[in-house]
Amino acid sequence: MSFKGQHILSVKQFDRDNIQYIFDIARKMAPYASRKKRTRVLDGAILGNLFFEPSTRTRVSFGCAFNLLGGEVRETTGMESSALSKGESLYDTARVISSYSDVIAMRHPQAGSVAEFAEGSRVPVLNGGDGANEHPTQALLDLFTIERELQASGQSIDGMHIAMVGDLKFGRTVHSLSKLLALYKNLQITLISPQELAMPDEVVSALDNAGHRLTISDKLEGNLNADIVYQTRIQEERFPSKAEANQYRGKFRLNQEIYTRHCKSNTVIMHPLPRDSRQEANELDNDLNLNPNLAIFRQADNGILVRMALFALTLGVQDLVQDYECAV
Ligand code: CP
Repeated sequence: MSFKGQHILSVKQFDRDNIQYIFDIARKMAPYASRKKRTRVLDGAILGNLFFEPSTRTRVSFGCAFNLLGGEVRETTGMESSALSKGESLYDTARVISSYSDVIAMRHPQAGSVAEFAEGSRVPVLNGGDGANEHPTQALLDLFTIERELQASGQSIDGMHIAMVGDLKFGRTVHSLSKLLALYKNLQITLISPQELAMPDEVVSALDNAGHRLTISDKLEGNLNADIVYQTRIQEERFPSKAEANQYRGKFRLNQEIYTRHCKSNTVIMHPLPRDSRQEANELDNDLNLNPNLAIFRQADNGILVRMALFALTLGVQDLVQDYECAV
């Protein structure tokens, strides 16, 4: 199985075998991510880290993952600081940056833009989120987290019950995660959102065609008795106006009191982050921070492992990481 030279643009390119292979490599990255060991396997390699839309975790974890493998990072943030704002095409930008870099990670506000960029690139391109379309590396780290969290209680992904909550229309992480979940067996999936922010039909069909048991609801109460509750933020940046987004803020708050009343005692809480902590939204209350089943920071940590694995695989060095170990 080889990912060398491949773009990572959509979760549709994965099957269960290659997901498990990526996870095997990700697990092997743990001692390097925790600085117990050090490797220079990507010494001399350059990551072009292009983020044309705000990001904290994805941008920084792509950069850290590359540094942890011994490579260097050059990045640009924001459309206004790039020549795209002068009318340069994605194709031209890709031609130029791909001659400066060995691999590129990119986020852009338009659906399909990262795939368009990849057509002009001579090196692998990893999609860090393209509009409301996909966020494949997030979906992989989400699935990696689900597998780890469930394993702790002797469960597996097959047969689990997951509830996805919030803005399922514009939330690209739930689109990508759902497409991966369609590869698994016998899931119970509860989709909770305002009707106007429902999961796109194409994604619901993929889950339906996989034979999963689906419940679609606009109510939180009575629907949280799941193994995993995956909460999301109202994606204000994808609404025509802030006022329109405000109509939906705060509708599906999860806090310790609701957790105690409606979730199982071991329901794992996930969120791709950022969570919107403003009082009017507060979809995941700080009073859950001491709940041991709140997995949101373990989830973000797992992003380093999965992104290290993806760099190693797309650059074809996954079997050389140990050979290039050096003193810590
Ligand atoms: N989960 C995620 O994509 O976070 P950022 O927007 O901070 O990158």
